[in-house]
Amino acid sequence: MHFHYLPRAEGPVLGIETSCDETAAAVLDSAGKVLAEAVLSQLAEHAPHGGVVPEIAARAHLHHLPELVKRVMGEAGLRFGDLAGVAATSGPGLIGGLIVGSSFAKGIALAQKKPFVAINHLEAHALSPRLPGLFPEEVPFPYLLMLLSGGHCQCVAVLGVGNYRRLGGTLDDAVGEAFDKVAKLLGLPWPGGPYLERLAASGDPFAFPLPRPLLGRPGCDFSFSGLKTAVAQLVASKPPGPLARSFAADVAASFQQAVAEVLADRAAHAMAAFRAYSPGACNLVMAGGVAANQTIRAAVAEQTKALGFGFFVPPPSLCTDNAVMVAWAGVERLRLGLSDGLDFSPRPRWPLEALSTSAESLPAP
Ligand code: KG4
Ligand code: ZN
Repeated sequence: MHFHYLPRAEGPVLGIETSCDETAAAVLDSAGKVLAEAVLSQLAEHAPHGGVVPEIAARAHLHHLPELVKRVMGEAGLRFGDLAGVAATSGPGLIGGLIVGSSFAKGIALAQKKPFVAINHLEAHALSPRLPGLFPEEVPFPYLLMLLSGGHCQCVAVLGVGNYRRLGGTLDDAVGEAFDKVAKLLGLPWPGGPYLERLAASGDPFAFPLPRPLLGRPGCDFSFSGLKTAVAQLVASKPPGPLARSFAADVAASFQQAVAEVLADRAAHAMAAFRAYSPGACNLVMAGGVAANQTIRAAVAEQTKALGFGFFVPPPSLCTDNAVMVAWAGVERLRLGLSDGLDFSPRPRWPLEALSTSAESLPAP
């Protein structure tokens, strides 16, 4: 990556998110105040296919992004010339959408002679709790991040902007993916996470003794495919056809309970690993779409309390994909004088540690 060292950016930043199935744009002032934001979910386009279709996503981003950017700039009362920089998610994600968003941002940057900031989507999630006003005080570095989304599931030591150390991650499915697959087995619409949570509310979380993969094992890795298979077998034991609602609710609640217990256990291991090389560090942040789940929030919150950690979860609208977190990562980077060349190529794969400047010097967890 090219780093351009610029004078400290003053002025608003436009953020663009197009890495998956949300087309989003937001404008923040240099202090991080949200001046305008918009998210357009492509649910209707993808739902008939039961998942995100990359080609449909790319075309939908191309179709909606110009209007969305115009809208947020209008709401913020700004012209492109007023911006201090333009930030766009440039990886990891679906390449078509990444090309649409980053090219659009580069076009504005080039025309207005403003810095372009290539944002790593995972870094945007990672830095989101630092958005001013979310919590009484800014969450200071370093902190432990549990990133729980449809595409990603990992524990990360957040040491500073651009400075991350991966402590562990999923060995198979991402946790959101497991929610979506189980929801599908139960006949719920896609994406299933929120529907499953609603159904689970009327079920018994201890109705079925589902497995708790990796519970109690050392390390901070996750595994969800065995749990998903156990649910598939449970559902297959019923006669074909629609499931009885009370059975589906009990399965949903039992699955959610198993995931919550596993995540709380993994959080405990991650806190111990994090403390081992960051003594004194004592905050845990949860982010990503699954962090919106109340049972999971409560289970991890209890564990942080038991281990003396502070617990921070952004509100659900900032947990699921959005452009506020992208613009905020842009503000954080521009403050440090970091921007990218217009020759930056979007990266479908872009691990957080590739951003690190000093992670090599840390001992292995
Ligand atoms: O972070 P996100 O919006 O997109 C990705 O980067 O993947 O996360 C989406 C994932 C989906 O799998 C969705 O089912 C899950 O988050 N999700 C939930 C809930 N809300 C969203 N899972 C469980 N409970 C929820 N309330
Ligand atoms: Zn995401």
